[in-house]
Amino acid sequence: MSEREREDEAVLARFEGGEHRTVEEVARETGLSPEGVAGAVRRLEEAGYVWERHPVRGVALRERPDRLVHSEVVPHLATRALGRTIRFFRSVESTNDRLLSPPFAGAPPGTVVAAEEQTRGRGRLDRRWESPPFRSLLFSALLEAEGGAAAAARLTLVSGVAAAEAVRDAGGPDLLIRWPNDLVAGDRKVCGILCEYRPDAGRLVLGVGMNVNQSEDELPPGGASLFTLSGRSFRRGPLLAAILNRIEEWSRRAAAEGFEKVRAAAEGRSALVGRAVTLDLGGRRIDGIAAGIGPEGGLLVRTGEATREYRSGEVVRVRPLAGE
Ligand code: BTN
Repeated sequence: MSEREREDEAVLARFEGGEHRTVEEVARETGLSPEGVAGAVRRLEEAGYVWERHPVRGVALRERPDRLVHSEVVPHLATRALGRTIRFFRSVESTNDRLLSPPFAGAPPGTVVAAEEQTRGRGRLDRRWESPPFRSLLFSALLEAEGGAAAAARLTLVSGVAAAEAVRDAGGPDLLIRWPNDLVAGDRKVCGILCEYRPDAGRLVLGVGMNVNQSEDELPPGGASLFTLSGRSFRRGPLLAAILNRIEEWSRRAAAEGFEKVRAAAEGRSALVGRAVTLDLGGRRIDGIAAGIGPEGGLLVRTGEATREYRSGEVVRVRPLAGE
């Protein structure tokens, strides 16, 4: 946290109760100067916080904007490592890339970077990930790379299950996993996961983009947000914490008991299982029936008598089975 962010957080913490406080009172309690407190109040106002001013009793906090800041996220974390080092940015090129940039060299596993906006957000297969500022969740986490690329495939499923559960717990829509890395409602995409194995850094970088409060016209074609699906907006900070809590919980469960429970949970939330699918394997196409999620986290596809687990590939077509 920068010095200014620390001051803003300290001042905000003194206004939790909603009562009026004078600048001098808050200065005494925080150890800041009265000018420092007034400066923090002004900065917060510029950032969208709404203050009520009284000539004698001072100021009271009336509205907090939905912003990704420490006080919105950290009190909701129940993790041991994930998100315990966390940095928030107004704008970055890509949170995945930021986490791999020199200032984060040597950052501990579990470090998280979250941003209000990305100027070059990346998806799988060199696609772009776009979202207007302050509307979505855009974050990345640095994780141990034990297991390399295979661990990336498993972590993608862990994160899909975790994010879907966190959304459901927040009163959001029931999302399904469109293997390997999308969360969908029907055929509309709500969340994308980009888990990259970086052998050079000896790390996995897990990136998650979730459409939260975008309106219909702020979404890319084929996209949906929690808001468009449920008609209400969501506070993004507590939702981010809930997703991190679930990711750590499922990762620990997988480490202690094996991958089977994650596999079963992902299969139970699959948007593909039981459907006719066309899988593109980088040019070669397979037509078959999605039969489940395999032990490696791949998609099981039945073609005629044979069922095979495909650990990579892109599902380019989904159709209901005849008679459905
Ligand atoms: C996909 O759907 O192909 C994956 C999209 C992943 C987007 C997230 S947003 C946060 C993180 N930073 C990025 O540049 N990409 C991921």
